[in-house]
Amino acid sequence: LSLKGKVALITGASSGIGAATSILFAKLGARLALNGRNMDNLTKIAHQCEEASKEKPLLVPGDLTEEGVVKKTIADTIAHYSQLDILVNNAGILETGSIENTTMEQYDKVMNINMRSVYELTTLAVPHLIKTKGNVINVSSICGPRSFSGLLAYCVSKSALDQFTRCVALVELASKQVRVNAVCPGVIITEIHKRAGLNEGQYAEFLEHSKETHALGRPGKADEVAQGIAFLAAETASFITGVTLPIDGGRHAMCPRIFFFFLLSLKGKVALVNGASSGIGAATSILSAKLRARLALNGWNMDNLTKIAHQC
Ligand SMILES: NC(=O)c1ccc[n+]([C@@H]2O[C@H](COP(=O)([O-])OP(=O)(O)OC[C@H]3O[C@@H](n4cnc5c(N)ncnc54)[C@H](OP(=O)(O)O)[C@@H]3O)[C@@H](O)[C@H]2O)c1
Repeated sequence: LSLKGKVALITGASSGIGAATSILFAKLGARLALNGRNMDNLTKIAHQCEEASKEKPLLVPGDLTEEGVVKKTIADTIAHYSQLDILVNNAGILETGSIENTTMEQYDKVMNINMRSVYELTTLAVPHLIKTKGNVINVSSICGPRSFSGLLAYCVSKSALDQFTRCVALVELASKQVRVNAVCPGVIITEIHKRAGLNEGQYAEFLEHSKETHALGRPGKADEVAQGIAFLAAETASFITGVTLPIDGGRHAMCPRIFFFFLLSLKGKVALVNGASSGIGAATSILSAKLRARLALNGWNMDNLTKIAHQC
């Protein structure tokens, strides 16, 4: 796997998946243009890239939802390197909320970075990518192909990004030998969930729950996504375009689960569960206990009922 000599523009390089991708790309020999908002973090990641490749990355900082920043990002990259081989559209945010309580401000905020900025950046990058027969990797999510409650605007934005990936890849750029792919990560340990409002305790609970929602029994690491991005960006994927590659510990193949399950609460409720000593009744009792209900448990077999009561 090599990216030697390739010029790559990576958005959201200052944290999480974007940071891991930048460092891996540097190790693989790419020349980098790195975008992010937090200048301190971006500079730290740039130093790590420089240590890995002995090449100083170009910094193209800025909020991609602000007027003119996308144009400047591409213009500065081309002015510096005179070419572009790889665009990694990674910058993104997560907002919680359902159809009943997501505000239009939240919707616009999510769509503006997760989709609109990607559309604009890709549009401006395409003339340069056609010249180099380069490629685009969009960082989507398992929330693109699958549906989760409590994350409506985010799911919509990632689903749009998946369709954008396929349309641009197959209908528009394949004939010009520009490949366009996406990765769809499951839960990856980064800052995104805490930034969306989870406190430390909720985040710990969420990661614990991820052991059940991912077939491989754990959340993923940013570098595991970076490896997939690098594979798609390199010649290793020369015959791959239009794919939305799950990097999710098998989660896409599982039944949909409630994503922010702890937003569900039975706190303060009193629940009477019949048949609580076995099977569905036992599972319902244990889940209700986790959701903080106060329980009255019914069942015939006193030994089993006592065991379930202990678990509750
Ligand atoms: N972590 C997961 O579980 C997970 C799962 C599936 C998909 N993803 C996707 O992976 C991508 C990266 O997320 P992450 O998990 O690495 O989160 P993260 O640690 O919060 O990093 C997000 C990055 O996006 C940047 N960013 C956000 N809004 C921006 C804006 N308006 N303009 C420019 N940069 C902006 C941030 O910049 P600053 O820090 O400098 O502000 C940061 O570098 C996102 O698209 C996310 O949807 C993540």
